[in-house]
Amino acid sequence: MCGIIGYVGPRQSQDILLAGLSRLEYRGYDSAGIAVIDGDGGLGMRKRAGKLAVLRDDLASTPLADGTTGIGHTRWATHGGPTDANAHPHLADDDKLAVIHNGIIENFAELKSELVGEGVAFHSETDTEVAAAMIGREYVRTGDLVAAFRAVVSRLEGAYTLLAMHEDHPGLVVGARRNSPLVIGLGEGENFLGSDVAAFVEHTRKALAIGQDEIVAITPEGVEVTDFSGAPVEVEAFEVTWDASAAEKGGWSSFMAKEVSEEPEAVANTIRGRIHEGRVEIPELDGMDAFLADIDRILVIACGTAAYAGMVGKYALETWTRVPVDVELAHEFRYRDPVLSPRTLVVSISQSGETMDTLMAVKYARSRGAKTLSICNTQGATIPRESDAIVYTHAGPEVAVASTKAFVAQITAIYLLALHVGRVRGAVDPVVAVEAVTELEAVPGKIARVLETEQARIEQLAHWMADTRSVLFLGRNVGYPIALEGALKLKELAYIHAEGFAAGELKHGPIALIEPGQPVFVVVPSPRGSAEMHKKVVSNIEEIRARGARVIAIAEEGDAAVLPAADEVLRIPLAAPMFEPLLAVVPLHIFAMGLAEAKGLDVDQPRNLAKSVTVE
Ligand code: G6P
Repeated sequence: MCGIIGYVGPRQSQDILLAGLSRLEYRGYDSAGIAVIDGDGGLGMRKRAGKLAVLRDDLASTPLADGTTGIGHTRWATHGGPTDANAHPHLADDDKLAVIHNGIIENFAELKSELVGEGVAFHSETDTEVAAAMIGREYVRTGDLVAAFRAVVSRLEGAYTLLAMHEDHPGLVVGARRNSPLVIGLGEGENFLGSDVAAFVEHTRKALAIGQDEIVAITPEGVEVTDFSGAPVEVEAFEVTWDASAAEKGGWSSFMAKEVSEEPEAVANTIRGRIHEGRVEIPELDGMDAFLADIDRILVIACGTAAYAGMVGKYALETWTRVPVDVELAHEFRYRDPVLSPRTLVVSISQSGETMDTLMAVKYARSRGAKTLSICNTQGATIPRESDAIVYTHAGPEVAVASTKAFVAQITAIYLLALHVGRVRGAVDPVVAVEAVTELEAVPGKIARVLETEQARIEQLAHWMADTRSVLFLGRNVGYPIALEGALKLKELAYIHAEGFAAGELKHGPIALIEPGQPVFVVVPSPRGSAEMHKKVVSNIEEIRARGARVIAIAEEGDAAVLPAADEVLRIPLAAPMFEPLLAVVPLHIFAMGLAEAKGLDVDQPRNLAKSVTVE
């Protein structure tokens, strides 16, 4: 996820671009850049790795010639780490054309080899530079930037917002979008483009929404929008109602509210480019087949929420790879004498890629001869750099301290890893693998449905429960780590005593905690999976209900068995049992956030916690 801004008008553009980028920094902040067509019609560009402040300081000490047409970008790396060279804009047509991009172009490798064959030289590892070179090649043929876009977009697969400008055409910025956002800001004698209205809300509140698969050209005098074939389209106008501070959060009340709303996208973007004709092929693991075919053990290490993603992952890894899997907290692993061998794959999971406990555990595993693979959400972070292989999650930047969208992206990545390794080893039946891929691809839509249908009700429930002092969570099988995650989120955000238990363990102790009025969330497995397991969890509900517990069940649509036993039922769409965690966790994230909000707490920065714990 990156932030994009474009400007045409009478004003000097650099300050407008930098101010817009600072409002968009929540969308990505590992590098930034701008390009401006100056008063003499020359194109100037500056880009720097690091936060926007690095670019700002650089421009302050050695300014670019100013001009009134410009584009700007703040990046969250996907293809190519966060370096100066990989930062946007990318140039083409002898540095006369500048292009910025948000999204992932899935087929960039094949397009790049076509261009390399034609003698095009590349200066970065990005997919964006490939799009820039293609637009440049088309532009040279016709001298028409909009026509160049039209010729190129039909060849790009994946998700993208692209903006470009050419020094032959001061006063023109062209953009296109597919599966990635772009809006127009309408000013007086000036116009804007932005990833969202935060980019330009301080200049205008009049906006136009650009539809899927559309191309836009803005000039100071006007705006033209066409579809990918060039036919004009109607655009919907709207008035921005946010104030500037809400704009930083994309209009949401908190970063966490925004990030929970992005859970569908986090899963979809993590899958993107990794499924080919129904098979999972993770391009980053090319060349590792011989090693993966030979591993005899997988050890997953992580901390906090990431460790719970690892616990969910164990079920999928063992089912689809038939390799034994252990999951361990990184700080516990680090100080014991583990049995590792060159045939052990150690998988670390970390949103930030900087958690010191996890980093030290990765180094320790390597020093003991194991191979390490990092599942990480932050390109270029230390843990991936210290690992033998990397599978990035593409959840976009997560700002709220407690992890939400990164959690569902981590589970998605580990499922993809399990299907990839299972295929390489011949351990997963191809029919089963195709079914799993179909299920996984349906998850974003199903999470969106949970948000749509249950969010308001769960927030209401959280509001009613604002005085609750203790909440228990029960789950079984893949639902067990979800119970642990539900409890952790509630502790972190609402400072309430919360415990997660394996439902089967109830009778071995935790049932003693049940007294009248005790709220208990129960993650109910689908009756369509193991009927036996479903029956057992329903009996658990009956047992605790008989002792006065207030039961809130998370159960799939149509599961009637829970109705007589539970006080509240939160519904999730039908999914194969392995995929239920990705849906069942969503109500728990909403609940913890809602309860903290009802108590008037800061959900983004809970007391005593840090987003990235860089000390052991
Ligand atoms: C901190 C955060 C947690 C997070 C954990 C692991 O404790 O408060 O929300 O789950 O670190 O972070 P990582 O960046 O390694 O995923």
